[in-house]
Amino acid sequence: MDKVHAEKRIKELSSEIEIHNHNYYVNDKPTISDFEFDKLLEELIALENQFPELLLSTSPSQRVGGAITKEFKSVKHTYPMLSLSNSYSTEDMIDFDRRVQEGLGLQSADLFSSSTVKYVCELKFDGLSIGLNYTNGQLVQAVTRGDGVQGDDVTTNAKTIRSIPLKLKGNFPSSFEIRGEIFMPRTIFDEINKEREEIGESPLANPRNAASGTMKMQDSSVVASRRLDCFVYYMLGEEVPFKSHFENLNAAKSWGFNVSKHSKLLDNINEVLEFIEYWDKERFNLPYDIDGIVIKVNDYKQQLQLGFTAKSPRWAIAYKFKAEQVSTELLEITYQVGRTGAITPVANLKPVALGGTTVKRASLHNADIIEKLDVRVGDFVFVEKGGEIIPKIIGVDLTKRQAHTNPTKYITHCPECGTPLIRDEGEANHFCPNEMECPPQVIGKMEHFASRKAMNIDSLGGETIDQLFKAGLVKNIADLFDLKKEQLLPLERMAEKSANNLIEGLEACKNVPFERVLYAIGIRHVGETTAKKIAKKVKSLDALMGLTKEQLLETDEVGGVIAESIADFFADEKNKNIIERLKNAGLQFELSEEQQQAGSDKLNGLTFVISGVFNKHSRDQLKELIEFNGGKNSGSISGKTSYLLAGDNMGPEKLKKAEKLGVKIISEDDFEKMLDK
Ligand code: IVH
Repeated sequence: MDKVHAEKRIKELSSEIEIHNHNYYVNDKPTISDFEFDKLLEELIALENQFPELLLSTSPSQRVGGAITKEFKSVKHTYPMLSLSNSYSTEDMIDFDRRVQEGLGLQSADLFSSSTVKYVCELKFDGLSIGLNYTNGQLVQAVTRGDGVQGDDVTTNAKTIRSIPLKLKGNFPSSFEIRGEIFMPRTIFDEINKEREEIGESPLANPRNAASGTMKMQDSSVVASRRLDCFVYYMLGEEVPFKSHFENLNAAKSWGFNVSKHSKLLDNINEVLEFIEYWDKERFNLPYDIDGIVIKVNDYKQQLQLGFTAKSPRWAIAYKFKAEQVSTELLEITYQVGRTGAITPVANLKPVALGGTTVKRASLHNADIIEKLDVRVGDFVFVEKGGEIIPKIIGVDLTKRQAHTNPTKYITHCPECGTPLIRDEGEANHFCPNEMECPPQVIGKMEHFASRKAMNIDSLGGETIDQLFKAGLVKNIADLFDLKKEQLLPLERMAEKSANNLIEGLEACKNVPFERVLYAIGIRHVGETTAKKIAKKVKSLDALMGLTKEQLLETDEVGGVIAESIADFFADEKNKNIIERLKNAGLQFELSEEQQQAGSDKLNGLTFVISGVFNKHSRDQLKELIEFNGGKNSGSISGKTSYLLAGDNMGPEKLKKAEKLGVKIISEDDFEKMLDK
């Protein structure tokens, strides 16, 4: 295809993809299958790769991510990002209404005058606030709250959020900011925690922390995979189209923004109170968390008249829901042993209704918490469901404590294998150190090994693993590959067909690429992404085993904890033995030739800073090329910078600094020559 046709096709594809995106993520009404959608996106990406000069910063291909942000630039907000004052009761709300009426010179005692202030009620989304700046209908910058005066530029990551429009439609102002909340839907949060548990990491406390942690990640493709969402709720700028908040929200909706359908324009404080009451119960049926309701005076003239205090607007307030609390009896404390040996004490409760579900169990977290709360079996405990998903025990109803109860004694030995527990310094949890023999740890490791993102052995589910372990046929992941069909057939529910499937599944997984094998062997803290990065960098397991901690730390995403954990893993003879056996069984312990050939080490040891606009490649593409060929990207010039890759309109500060430090400045052409060598 020639360039003219490519340009036309790219335009068509981009607009078609964004329409489907909008239908799926904003309207909740998909208009195309995932497969067809992926096809369109693939075609677009292929064309953009072929004609890099046609890649626009608003292309839907940006949503896939890939660009790395080493350091988030700090930028000043055009308008400070204020917060809201909080209220907790009907009285607080009536007080707010009175202050508003008085501030506007209306008589609150006069029943009829209340209709002259209209309020917009919105859900208070529990995530992180974001300021989205648009110029000529294009998303140009996304900034976090920071300290309210300046925040972090997280544009690259924000672009991966499908409900944030990259390009607007309709009649929008040439320049404005819109604020909203980025959040993580609860199903995604649950998925992530399941995976964290699998690799031995403590679960994220709540979707809010998960969302803000995700937005600060360096690799935007990981952000893309987290499927964050965003609602907008506040428009700012010199030329916003309407003179009231609600009308502007509707306008924003028509330009493509995700505005909550639950926002309502209400006539008086009584309707506001009804709205609050309704959502206090209904909130549990939403697919995301809200922690209250936001009430805003609708009319801008009235907002102006009311003005701001130092911290928050006088024309708006947040009503915070009380976390629902109940009291119930603690029947028993049991102890769970996780895949990594971490012990979690669990409170088994007399079932009680809370926040729309029946609660029977609550985590007691660790020994310190049990001691601090002084919870005892037989106590009545207060259980709360706040922002956290798992209910919490927040205290004991001492008025109901029976005489002769005993303080809880934390277990000293593993409830599964009897091994004395250990507790590392600074760690909250006790651990069972018997990694290789403690049943839930052994079984957990095998389940992880067989799981979809690891070796993907369909025919080796949890039940089968349980069975194999109990029958004494397997004690570790290497034993799986010694299994013979004859050994399987005598097992219960194991017919000829399932035995064949299992043997075939184990055979087929020998083709699973190295990066997934690295994830599958279950080194603590080495998740899917980390495994991928390490595999790409070290290329083989032998190479990885030969690295020092310092060398490991040079890999993206590998910090001290991971480096330590990898070193510990390979220091253990038993692990080495298992790896050796897996190798002999034929698993992939190095990148395939194809994978090795992709990329080069031409830029090994070199650090680049990219600045300005380029003719042949986008900046993201240049960054990828650098990493692909073994180089490193950095956001700022320092003594460690090898080259400043300079395009048009480069910042004068960067140029000055490079000259001062004697950093070599090269053009896009020079860079291409380096790669051609
Ligand atoms: S309006 C000046 N509306 O709650 C008014 N905020 O302290 C700015 N939030 O920082 C905020 N949902 O992060 C507004 N519908 C909503 C909201 C909302 C959540 C967050 C926002 C803000 C905090 C209030």
